[in-house]
Order: sequence, then C-alpha cells, then structure tokens
Amino acid sequence: MKVLRTVAEVRAWRAELARAGRRVAFVPTMGYLHQGHVQLMHEGRKRVPADAGELAISIFVNPAQFNDASDLAAYPRDLDGDLAKARSAGVDMVYRPDDPKELYPPLASTWVEVAGLDEHLCGATRPGHFRGVCTIVCKLWQLVQPDFALFGQKDFQQLAIIRRMHADLFLGGEVVGVPTVREPDGLAMSSRNARLAPEDRRAALAIPRFLSEVRSRYARGERDAAALIAGSEQALKPGEIHYVSVVDADTLQPVESTTASSGGRTLVALAAFFGGVRLIDNLVLEG
Ligand code: PAJ
Repeated sequence: MKVLRTVAEVRAWRAELARAGRRVAFVPTMGYLHQGHVQLMHEGRKRVPADAGELAISIFVNPAQFNDASDLAAYPRDLDGDLAKARSAGVDMVYRPDDPKELYPPLASTWVEVAGLDEHLCGATRPGHFRGVCTIVCKLWQLVQPDFALFGQKDFQQLAIIRRMHADLFLGGEVVGVPTVREPDGLAMSSRNARLAPEDRRAALAIPRFLSEVRSRYARGERDAAALIAGSEQALKPGEIHYVSVVDADTLQPVESTTASSGGRTLVALAAFFGGVRLIDNLVLEG
C-alpha cells in the first residue's frame, strides 16, 4: 500500500495509472476509519478489481468544512490505526496530506458552492459546511480523477450535493452512494461515536428507535409530515435536537406531506447532540 503525502506525488501516481490504462476507485474520508468507511472501500474494490486498477482513499480532516474551531480540534484522529485498517481492506493508495496548506495555499480563493440543496438540514445549521465539503471533494477529484468515487447515504445531504456538483462541473467518472452501515444495536456508525461517554452511547439509541417508529407510522399509512415526526423532542431525550426534518429526497425542500415529494421519495433526517457530540441519521420513505 502506497502512502502519499503531496499533491505532486498523487499527480505522478495518477499519470502512471493512466499510462497503464488502469482505473481508480476512490473513497475520500476524514479518517478515524470504521466499518462504514470499510464498506465504501469494498464497494470500490467491486467496481475496480485489483487486476483492473487501484483502490485509493484520502484521509484529511478538512478545516474548511468545520464552522466550529472546537469541533475541528476535537475531531478524533488515529493515523496508524487508519493505515492498518486500509491495508486490511485491500487499499492500494492512501493520500494523507501532510499539510493543509498544500490543498489550501495562502492565495487559494476559489470555492465551490452548490445553491439550493444546502438551504435546509445540515446546511441551515452549519453555515459554510457544504461549501467546505464541495471545495475539498472537487480538489481531490481533480487530483485523483476517479472512475468511481464512493460516498455514504448516512450523510444524505452531502451525497445529494456532491451528485449535483459532479453533474454541474462535468467531473467525469461516477458518484456511487452506499447504504448506511450500522452497529448491531442500530446506531449509525460514525467517527464521532468514539467521543460518546458510555451513558450517551446508550442514550443515542433513541435515534434509530425514533426513526424506526417513523417508518412504522409511514407503513401504517401516515403521510402527514408533522404527524410522522410528532413527539421527536420527547423521543430523543436526553439528546438535544438540532433539527428533525421531512423533505423531498430529491430537492431537499421541506414537504408537508410525503405525497408532495416530486420523485415519490421523502427523506426524514435529523441531527441531535448527545453529551455534546453531534450525531446525524436519516431514512428514506418511498412506495
Ligand atoms: P467522513 O465523515 O470521514 O466520511 C467519509 C465517507 O464515509 C462519507 O462518504 C460518509 O458518508 C461515509 N460514511 C460515514 N459513516 C458511514 C456509515 N455509517 N455508513 C456508510 N457510509 C458512511 O464525509 C466526510 O468524511 C467528509 O465530508 C468528506 C466527504 C471526506 C470531505 O471532507
């Protein structure tokens, strides 16, 4: 497994693969890898088998997408553990920039912003977050030039925004969305789970429990958005809700009824704090 640290090294690696006619599957991450990330790697490997090309990942805690300096400082990091996990997942190349200044040199002044899709959910509560995500994903896409890049549905809004950016900017290759990987008890895997104290980890199970309650209400015929998420404040306690929203899964605009969703798919998404740790999860209602 190659570990590259500079833009120049990544460019040389990609040029060599292009000469050899080999393909690339790419998983961008912020590290502290877990089974959710590993699932994206497996999906990448399926699309680019070892005899056809390389599986690449990046590990970079992107300062531009944190609007809260203490959240950035507290983001968990474990490079050695990550490299071991990447190796056992069959990764061929890890790009782990040494210095954020290489990706954001002092004179860098170009930002990528996708309008509209960031108005609600995490976009509304984390100003500038998706601009930071899009800018780094676009930079990494230019460097790695993947045939496939894989992203998780746990970050549904991020995936939707990246799909839009990818289409709008003719980035080439393909964006692949991968279903959320969960702990056996239902909590969505996240690097942030490591920061939960044991009692907050237990309390956070309120999230999957609440989402499965929403799914049952829908299965019983409930279509009204407010009724679907009624009682969320109580249900998620002692978690503190950042938002619980019902939106059209394609436009990410709020709907009053699931019947109003243009493509027939409605997203129920939430963010809540447990012991100061911000967790997100979602489900898609359709049919
Ligand atoms: P990070 O949170 O490290 O996540 C990297 C990728 O793993 C994202 O596509 C995310 O959706 C996916 N992922 C995380 N938890 C998952 C789970 N439980 N199941 C399935 N997929 C999961 O998302 C980012 O980093 C950054 O914003 C990034 C795209 C790397 C840009 O900096």
